[in-house]
Amino acid sequence: MCGIVAYLGEKQAYPILIKGLHRLEYRGYDSSGVAIINGSMNLYKCKGKVNKLENFVKGKNISGSIGIAHTRWATHGQPNDINAHPHTSQNGKLSIIHNGIIENYGPLKEELEKRGHIFLSETDTEVLIHLIEDIQENEKLDIAESVRVALNQVIGAYAIVVISKEEDNKLIAAKKGSPLVIGIGDGEFYIASDATPIVEYTRKVVYLEDEEMAILEKGKDIVLKSISNISHTPYFQQLTMNLDALEKGGYEHFMLKEIFEQPSSVRETMRGRINIHDGIVKLGGITDYKQKLVKAKRILMIACGTSWHAGLVGEYLFEELTRIPVEVEYASEFRYRNPVITEDDVVIAISQSGETADTLAAIKMAKKKGATILGICNVVGSSIPRETDAGSYTHAGPEIGVASTKAFTSQVTILTMMALMIAREKGSITTSRYQQLVLALEQIPKQIEETLKTNDIVEAIAARYKDSRNFLYLGRGYNFPVALEGALKLKEISYIHAEGYPAAEMKHGPIALIDKDMPVVIIAPRKGNYEKVVSNIQEVKARSGKIIAVVSKGDTQVREMADHVIEIPCVEEMLVPLVATIPLQLLSYHIALMRGCNVDQPRNLAKSVTVE
Ligand code: F6R
Repeated sequence: MCGIVAYLGEKQAYPILIKGLHRLEYRGYDSSGVAIINGSMNLYKCKGKVNKLENFVKGKNISGSIGIAHTRWATHGQPNDINAHPHTSQNGKLSIIHNGIIENYGPLKEELEKRGHIFLSETDTEVLIHLIEDIQENEKLDIAESVRVALNQVIGAYAIVVISKEEDNKLIAAKKGSPLVIGIGDGEFYIASDATPIVEYTRKVVYLEDEEMAILEKGKDIVLKSISNISHTPYFQQLTMNLDALEKGGYEHFMLKEIFEQPSSVRETMRGRINIHDGIVKLGGITDYKQKLVKAKRILMIACGTSWHAGLVGEYLFEELTRIPVEVEYASEFRYRNPVITEDDVVIAISQSGETADTLAAIKMAKKKGATILGICNVVGSSIPRETDAGSYTHAGPEIGVASTKAFTSQVTILTMMALMIAREKGSITTSRYQQLVLALEQIPKQIEETLKTNDIVEAIAARYKDSRNFLYLGRGYNFPVALEGALKLKEISYIHAEGYPAAEMKHGPIALIDKDMPVVIIAPRKGNYEKVVSNIQEVKARSGKIIAVVSKGDTQVREMADHVIEIPCVEEMLVPLVATIPLQLLSYHIALMRGCNVDQPRNLAKSVTVE
């Protein structure tokens, strides 16, 4: 989604802004722009990547120590030069960058047009900066007050930064719904939509709350207030993010780096939470809610995309181990379907970014209805952890590749630990089985390491099928969500149509698709419904489909039938998703690369989906 960077201080703003935009490229965008004040308001923007903007500004006036910059992911209006941010007011004295959607921009625009405003773009953002100017001119207010008054007329979500040529020592920032973080340097301020552009300059930050604004003035302390004009005390936090995590570290792509990081990211997820000597799992963040979970009549998992797939694995885990009924919901459906929610329900919201608009809205709705809300998030300090009653961070480290990889395995790891913790507390598992599973979970990072050694085999399979037009992914039980996740990864980054299905459902429809050109990826470990999956493989073979099977080490039965096999270590059935997902991530990666796709920033996709 859109990215925001702003700077005010003694240094030249442009290099900081451009570097910041590069840091935010992972979020997904289609145009970019920058505005710097240096006597005049110098604004440059264009469709395309940040590199294009850099070429565009060559030889132009980019000096100045106050500026704003933006990467836009189109919502209102085509991705083109005019719709790109920043946008300026009619008199050219004000500029704005904005993430989110102003829902009532239509009526506001009509009103402003009646008053003589002429708009250049199709965006809601331009309407907002004209509104701010209109208020400033009519009510003779300073820029901060004009922004505050304007925001009281706005319906929708926003994270904005506004600069004014006439008050060129101030950045005005505000947020509702979309995230915004302010870095406090030595006599300087940084603003960004997440901490990645800030961390190399300062670790002292303030996260803005909803309907809160910041007035940042050179030489003064940060001033925070609500948009209803109540003064707030800033709550300073320290960033713990590691700068190396934002670099590719020798890998060709972030996605590949993040796939290979999984032994360590899963280890990080478990760090300090599993005591191997006494075999105890402890998730400190939810300890106070253990009883609530044990007594829950129902657990609802809400999430989107890959996080929803993790929730599905969670359903199998929780029901098997805790015997508590679980429902897994797409946040976007849940929030609009008037679901039955009671105070005995526990909602677990799962999100890598912690900013997904639908998940956030679903949380707010369930909260209003009295449910207890827990979060499983990766990004520390993001909106979802702040909106939930309690939760557990996955601690997988920054995930920069748009396609989620290490976040998924860490989410499944947390869900496994949660299910084990509740089962033990509830007495729905024997002590010996509990300890056996804890030990097995602790071994998973090593087994992921072993699984990563299949990379060359997977690459060869990718070369064979890179030109296929369709793929089918099949799995049963715990591996049905793995099939869904494998298919999602492939379509996201290679643009090949892929479907994930529970293997037995194939004969109820998708079997019609199978012919000699159809690769079918089957997750067939020697666990659970193995014999049934073998029958599904035979059904595919009988129709000349090509089988790529993910099998347990040493398997011979499937090997005889399959066209290709990828061996994974033998692990507990409920832990198979943690290893079986790895070769599917690699398969998508290699196919996308061979097809010349942009692996880290696939077309049309955004890393954190902060709009509906
Ligand atoms: C897939 C992917 C998306 C996200 C989804 C939810 O690779 O990245 O499907 O999983 O947009 O995002 P989070 O987890 O940030 O809420």
